[in-house]
Amino acid sequence: MTTAAMRAAHFLADRPLVFADPFALELTSDEYRALHESIGLPAHFGGPRIRLVQGHVVGRARWAEDRLEAALAEGIDQYVMIAAGLDSFALRRRDLLPRLRVLELDRPALQAHKRARLARLGRDLPEGVEMRALDLRAESLARVLRSSSFAPARPAFFAALGIVSYLERAALLAMLDALRASCAPGSRIVFDYPIPPHLMSEDDRALAEEVSRVTAAHGETRRGKHVPEELHRDLEARGFALVEDVSPHEMARRYFAGRNDGLAPYPESHLACFRVER
Ligand SMILES: C[S@@+](CC[C@H](N)C(=O)[O-])C[C@H]1O[C@@H](n2cnc3c(N)ncnc32)[C@H](O)[C@@H]1O
Repeated sequence: MTTAAMRAAHFLADRPLVFADPFALELTSDEYRALHESIGLPAHFGGPRIRLVQGHVVGRARWAEDRLEAALAEGIDQYVMIAAGLDSFALRRRDLLPRLRVLELDRPALQAHKRARLARLGRDLPEGVEMRALDLRAESLARVLRSSSFAPARPAFFAALGIVSYLERAALLAMLDALRASCAPGSRIVFDYPIPPHLMSEDDRALAEEVSRVTAAHGETRRGKHVPEELHRDLEARGFALVEDVSPHEMARRYFAGRNDGLAPYPESHLACFRVER
């Protein structure tokens, strides 16, 4: 609900756009919509620290779709959104749908909310887009993929945005093992992950602690932080090859240059893209 509300606020108030999501306001919760009616979502997310979290949310979405388009150009035609949340890809990117099968995975309660919102918008899920329930802590990604229209023989593009920080390292590695065992070489996975406090400045550490407190208060405890080099080594040992690992500094250079409105990448978060090698 919160990431959709942040995308909505960005779409309504910021220019230039890093990421355009015209459906986010419709998809988010009634509470956020009421807040928009009263003080406005841009004002709600206007504080200097929360702007960095918002910058991360829109920046990672933009980067992931840029990577997806690169994968499409190489012939990949399946997109699996792990913890898709209220991402409106199926509504926003109709231009890509003729070339893609899309599978959205998330917890049942979130998907029920999304279905209700789509119904209110008078929309069905477009042809070629499928939703399947998955609780990553309780179920195997491999089993859910097998029970869906996913084609294991063809490479796929997987995105897992905004989820890795909520998984213990063991759950993350289990998810990645299941993914590698379920898909063809040449598949890609993109995800964002937080780095540990000792790799951050003191100011950045204080911000990260505040965000952890807020998300925990919303029932989502942030668990997994990773040293980039260690994560790369672990994944390479499991049959993945690093395509790129993008630091907040590099994100700022690529997508936020020249802004003076406070929107910038969140200093705790890296973005990683890996290719399945074997
Ligand atoms: C921060 S949101 C990110 C959503 C979306 N990817 C985005 O970038 O806006 C986290 C998402 O992870 C989902 N999630 C949390 N725990 C999960 C679990 N154990 N299994 C599957 N999905 C989970 C939540 O339902 C939510 O949609």
